[in-house]
Amino acid sequence: MSDGAARVLERLRGAGPAGISGALLSGDLGVSRAQVWKHVESLRARGYGIDGEPGGGYRLTALPDRLYPERIRDGLATRWLAREFHHLDETDSTNRVALEMARAGAPHGTTVVAEGQTAGRGRLGRSFFSPPHASLYTSIVLRPQIDTAEAPTLIQASAIGVAEAVEAEVSDPSDVEIKWPNDVLLGERKTSGILMELGAEATRVAFVVLGIGVNLNVPRESLPEEFRELATSISAHTGRRIDRVAFAQRLYHRLEEVLDAHAAGGFAAIRPRFESRFRMTGRTVRVRDLDGVESSGRCAGIDADGALLLESEDGRRRRVVAGDVTVVRRREDAA
Ligand code: BTN
Repeated sequence: MSDGAARVLERLRGAGPAGISGALLSGDLGVSRAQVWKHVESLRARGYGIDGEPGGGYRLTALPDRLYPERIRDGLATRWLAREFHHLDETDSTNRVALEMARAGAPHGTTVVAEGQTAGRGRLGRSFFSPPHASLYTSIVLRPQIDTAEAPTLIQASAIGVAEAVEAEVSDPSDVEIKWPNDVLLGERKTSGILMELGAEATRVAFVVLGIGVNLNVPRESLPEEFRELATSISAHTGRRIDRVAFAQRLYHRLEEVLDAHAAGGFAAIRPRFESRFRMTGRTVRVRDLDGVESSGRCAGIDADGALLLESEDGRRRRVVAGDVTVVRRREDAA
């Protein structure tokens, strides 16, 4: 958006329902009324609803359902997250874009958002369904002062931030749960996934890209058939359309707060918030590690560093630091 259009938008927002005359706008901005009209047209092309004619006044009537920088910044009170913000209409993967920016030196908190992705990446080489204008696809560059061994707990911190943002949208927050390590479920169906990719120098993290996808306004019937039973969106769960801009802003606030807490006190500082949303303890689960090796056992909770504790039938405990977990049997069913 041009500076001129941004200034016209600012004046229109300030004027509220009364609107503002073209003469006042042109005087305020120091440009001709024809130029004001051009800016109004460019704002309309961007999706803003603006009543008015070149000879009269203008009134802002509708905001576009787009994650534009000017929409995200309006009311965003974060200190470092999403202060540098890049909006893309479409890309292959916001993680790919953010990784490139991180390698080129992008600062801590740089955020990329896309309206749609053509090759959204999921964990373990899967893809992430990313239809345009329906959901939130965002990637954040972090430069944490941690060793690579501690990095997995950053994903857990992020899952807390996502879960808290989702909880704010639903009438019963206990519908939200975190499936270790980082899926956020709503009514036992996946509504969000997180993919962390990192760059390291020896054992020190140089940068992390946290890629977060949250299904917001996707009807269940438009989810790919293979996920339909296991996935949902917030709107499908609540029966209400989700304001994508407000959701993104809330997510950025929650993430900044939980990532700051993690930076100050490590996983220990956020562990209660993770555990209060973790419902796998006592359930029989199957784990597939990063090499594809499967094992199962009873989930005995989360260890002090965020690892999953798996107990075999003979009572021996094993720690799982990364992998994919499926619940085989619920505690209630096992009784
Ligand atoms: C998973 O559930 O397997 C993780 C999904 C992560 C998807 C997000 S969408 C934004 C960012 N860009 C990507 O290509 N992937 C992540």
